[in-house]
Amino acid sequence: MPSSPSSPYSPSSPDSPDSPDRSAVVDRLRAAGCVFAEDEAELLIAAAPTATALDALIGRRAAGEPLEHVLGWAEFRGLRITLEPGVFVPRRRTEFLVRQALALGHQAEEDRTPVVVDLCCGSGAVGAALAVALERVELHAADVDPVAVRCARRNLAAALRNGRGSGTYGPYEVPETYAPGDTYEALKAPEAYAPRPPHKPYAVYEGDLYAPLPATLRGRVDILAANVPYVPTDEVALLPSEAREHEPRTALDGGADGLDVLRRVAAEAAQWLAPGGCLLVETSERQAAEAVEVMRAGGLGVRVKRSEELYATVVIGARLRSPDRSPETMPEPEAVPERPAE
Ligand SMILES: C[S@@+](CC[C@H](N)C(=O)[O-])C[C@H]1O[C@@H](n2cnc3c(N)ncnc32)[C@H](O)[C@@H]1O
Repeated sequence: MPSSPSSPYSPSSPDSPDSPDRSAVVDRLRAAGCVFAEDEAELLIAAAPTATALDALIGRRAAGEPLEHVLGWAEFRGLRITLEPGVFVPRRRTEFLVRQALALGHQAEEDRTPVVVDLCCGSGAVGAALAVALERVELHAADVDPVAVRCARRNLAAALRNGRGSGTYGPYEVPETYAPGDTYEALKAPEAYAPRPPHKPYAVYEGDLYAPLPATLRGRVDILAANVPYVPTDEVALLPSEAREHEPRTALDGGADGLDVLRRVAAEAAQWLAPGGCLLVETSERQAAEAVEVMRAGGLGVRVKRSEELYATVVIGARLRSPDRSPETMPEPEAVPERPAE
């Protein structure tokens, strides 16, 4: 459930001529089957600038659109992720995949800028959360769906502009000790006068899995986060109508056993990962054993992590530095706080 945003429209203000009847909103939502009608009413009221707009939002929600599509955003690890209708809504359980990826990213950033790829990025929520939390990062994100790519571009631009590095090169840095005419010092330490490299450069590509990624990424990826579609085809019909009717089938359907896209990702992963780099995917608990085999077949050392609290299963495959591919030689993700510090 997204937390309440601030809005210039304050319907609860007693002197607002547009002040809606909050309990009437709750009643309409409850009648439409919204379990969290009170929370949703608060969010919709805060999002609507006028009574007419509020009526339209309630109508869309009552007709079964996901709350996040109606609001135009979802909360993910404390970030507000912009969503257009038809784009996969980032799930809370995927924060567990981010936590695992962050632990590995923090290890990598001890001696270099980690290279992170958010494959099947959807709205870009996973990449944005990783990029914000890491001190340094080179981030690449890709998805086959042009609407998702548009959202990911907006979300990464917003997340990385927010005082945490940008996608552009910074200005030339002139050391404080510089004095006009001090060319000798400049020649002695040219690196001090060179343009500073971007702190958190990023790019978003559109296309099928690895196809749109630059070839220069081959063998350099430290974190390959791939929240691929993993619902078995026969089970798509059993999903809640919010997902079935409002999220694209390409975001959900993972083929007969749900692992078809993972098979394609795992088959090529070792070519893109740096030595010690890791592929992280989310699966259902039931699929985890087969997903392990799929990753092993791709030449990776594999480990499974579970969160009882978030009902989340993450399978992590590492391109090991040594020929020994036993999971014991894998980098161990350390504990990462469930939510980022406020
Ligand atoms: C389960 S959603 C995950 C989205 C996002 N990573 C998240 O966690 O919110 C799967 C995403 O994979 C994308 N996708 C499916 N098949 C793909 C393919 N062959 N190449 C690239 N992206 C694909 C879908 O468009 C969708 O955005």
